[in-house]
Amino acid sequence: GTPADYQAEDATITNGAAESNHLGFTGTGFVNYDNVTGSAVEFSVTAAAAGPANVVLRFANGTTTNRPMDIAVNGVKVASGVAFGGTGNWDTWQTVTVPVTLTAGTNKIKATATTANGGPNLDKITV
Ligand code: GCU
Ligand code: CA
Ligand code: CA
Repeated sequence: GTPADYQAEDATITNGAAESNHLGFTGTGFVNYDNVTGSAVEFSVTAAAAGPANVVLRFANGTTTNRPMDIAVNGVKVASGVAFGGTGNWDTWQTVTVPVTLTAGTNKIKATATTANGGPNLDKITV
């Protein structure tokens, strides 16, 4: 169906915080992942019908080091170590797209940092 936005700052945050101290976010802020392995954000995404969908993650990474994350759908890892590379500074946002398969109704989509650097700052996903 028509893609919808799901703000990270409104999602379920594990080892991170909703913040707004950088420019260019949408909604009311972004999630600053704690810089630890396993920091995560989980979204509840509604799909009208089962089938393929693209998860577009909007992020900033003001460092020059990749901040990879695993992507899970309904508890099943569907993409490992997806790269979230440097965007130049914390005010500059880029997107990464991960293809997934959704079930009809509510789906839990979780992005989990896999290194001690934590995740990037995450603004939203669009699904
Ligand atoms: C800075 C920045 C944060 C970011 C952090 C990091 O502190 O202000 O928004 O999350 O670096 O390196 O993860
Ligand atoms: Ca951080
Ligand atoms: Ca946001």
